[in-house]
Amino acid sequence: MNLLIINGPNLNLLGKRETSIYGNTSFESYFDQLTAEFSDDNLSYFQSNHEGEIIDKLHTEGYKVDGIVLNAGAYTHTSLAIADAIAGIESPVIEVHISNVHKREKVRHKSFITAVCKGVIAGFGLNSYRLAVEALKRSL
Ligand code: DQA
Repeated sequence: MNLLIINGPNLNLLGKRETSIYGNTSFESYFDQLTAEFSDDNLSYFQSNHEGEIIDKLHTEGYKVDGIVLNAGAYTHTSLAIADAIAGIESPVIEVHISNVHKREKVRHKSFITAVCKGVIAGFGLNSYRLAVEALKRSL
């Protein structure tokens, strides 16, 4: 399967950023493990700190790939534009969070994108991405 992982703002700092919440592993090294584990699939990865670039990526890939795993970071809680992009494409999108956003500040409880995603996985650390890839593989 062709699967795309998209990470939003500040997730380029994984491994360095708020390590008590997000852990010590960089996404690049985690992604290496994931590609080795799912070696029969074609996993690709894109990160951007810019809302419009995330939307552009959803537009270009969202009619091609078999599924998208999206951690929209803080845009989860603010972006109707990303929600509209997800609603407009064909590939199923799974919303992912490293932390359990529902255990955190109230502002993180609201997601603009949940309603247009196939499902949500949150709170399992980087393992949330692995679970999302498995969910896409089993349901397609
Ligand atoms: C996050 C949770 C968001 O609230 C936050 O803004 C992030 C990361 C997570 O993966 O837990 O940047 O999406």
